[in-house]
Amino acid sequence: MGWATSPFLFASNMKNLWYKDAVFYELYIRSFYDTNDDGHGDLKGVIAKLDYLQELGITCIWLLPMYPSPLKDDGYDISDYYNIHADYGTLDDFKRLVEEVHTRGMRIVTDLVLNHTSDQHPWFQAARSSRTNPFRDYYVWSDTDKKYSGVRLIFGDVETSNWAWDEATGQYYWHRFYTSQPDLNFDNPAVQAEMLNVVRFWLNLGVDGFRVDAPTYLFEREGTNCESLPETHAYLKRLRAVINEEFPGRVLLAESNQQPRELIEYFGNGHDEFHMAFNFPLMTRIFLAFAEGNAEPIRSVIEQTPQTGEECQWAIFLRNHDELTLEMASPAEREHMYREYAPDPKMILNLGLRRRLAPLLKGDHRRIELANALILSLPGTPVLYYGDEIGMGENLDLSDRNGVRTPMQWTDSENAGFTKAKPFAELVTGEYGHHHVNVDSQVAEPDSLFHAIRRLLFIRKDQPAFGRGDIQMLDAPSSLLAFKRKYLDVTMVCVYNLCTTSETFTLPENEQGGYINLLENEEQVVESIQLEPYSYVWMKKYGE
Ligand code: NOJ
Repeated sequence: MGWATSPFLFASNMKNLWYKDAVFYELYIRSFYDTNDDGHGDLKGVIAKLDYLQELGITCIWLLPMYPSPLKDDGYDISDYYNIHADYGTLDDFKRLVEEVHTRGMRIVTDLVLNHTSDQHPWFQAARSSRTNPFRDYYVWSDTDKKYSGVRLIFGDVETSNWAWDEATGQYYWHRFYTSQPDLNFDNPAVQAEMLNVVRFWLNLGVDGFRVDAPTYLFEREGTNCESLPETHAYLKRLRAVINEEFPGRVLLAESNQQPRELIEYFGNGHDEFHMAFNFPLMTRIFLAFAEGNAEPIRSVIEQTPQTGEECQWAIFLRNHDELTLEMASPAEREHMYREYAPDPKMILNLGLRRRLAPLLKGDHRRIELANALILSLPGTPVLYYGDEIGMGENLDLSDRNGVRTPMQWTDSENAGFTKAKPFAELVTGEYGHHHVNVDSQVAEPDSLFHAIRRLLFIRKDQPAFGRGDIQMLDAPSSLLAFKRKYLDVTMVCVYNLCTTSETFTLPENEQGGYINLLENEEQVVESIQLEPYSYVWMKKYGE
């Protein structure tokens, strides 16, 4: 019997599926807003800006790691899973943040780093103190660095091997990321149990779920690429069972950068693994489509990444705190992307582009708005990256990925209104600097990017078809992307022009008729539509 047959179950399921209608906002605490004048953003700063986020239309914030850490990988190297980094505040501040978020009817998810700890974590300190220490087996050791050969290097610009030599105990330890991030040994039942305790701790504090960092690499097996192994999926299912049994309604979001075929396995059978997964393949294809002036890259990837179940949802995004990864692009696609988006070699990092959305799209508001409209209307839940709603740029003088993690530009005054002290990182300068790009001036200007995105978010909020509907592609010239989203008795038609010339879209005969144009808020009888370069329409009708 399906849940739809009982009104009670129907309502509770609608509520538990909140993430399907949500709009996520990825927020880097250090860069957001500083309230204690030390040049670093803090949790109280996030609280101070919740009204701003609500005004923009955000319904769920995702915090980058906020745990104690030596910050060799900006907090993805955790030295204590049960506390808050001193730069950000205290556990009490965190509890207040959760409360303030919930008071506003919003949600909050945090980063959960399962795969590795910092080398400063007491477990690793103990593990490396002697071969017989009880914590030795919390990590992955080997006498040789030839084990698991052929496993790819993720931080290939810095690391030369996934093994690091430990002088004191005369063995190598395994790490998929920086040397300072030893991988935990998930073959050890104690590690498995410890990490579930971490999960329960934060869920008991009220967080609404986790963005699970690097879930792909938990187990290692000889003769494989050590990614997405059956053992890894089995553990992730244990994690989901904790949610299902003890914390229903909380969400697990997978950060797994894989090809569509492997990626959909993270949804398990639809209700026993992740609720959500970032759609990395779609992200790359959106930028490729802009580069080619052709919708085909998006059309084909949508066809390869089916929705897998009632409870499953893609998280769709354009940019995040890392480089725009091209790991899963073909060599030819990667070359094309570098030609288009990396005129300066400094923009390339590992196999990706350390750039922000606005400069990638040439600062052209039409393209930036269209890209946002795409992630608001394709199947999934949009995830915005802080600062992209006002079109912030990157600072290429900062190393690694720091160039896309610069202080939020609130005003055109000193330090962009982010802090009264010297900011922890140099601000962006030039045309994307805070004198030209800041929240204050865009809130005051009705034609700004901020208002364009805000309008789209508010339209989306009233249209559950965007978060929940199925998708059907419509025939269109190759530079246009046209699709139908259908949910209950509502049909949406969305059409995008991805090229530099004006194009005409003719609706299939059986789709022609009366629609509400959601962007103009008016009723129209539609047979064909003229689309200027980088323009788009969202239309709605009742029925088929
Ligand atoms: C993925 C995160 O997004 C990235 O920032 C981090 O460096 C690695 N995982 C390692 O945790």
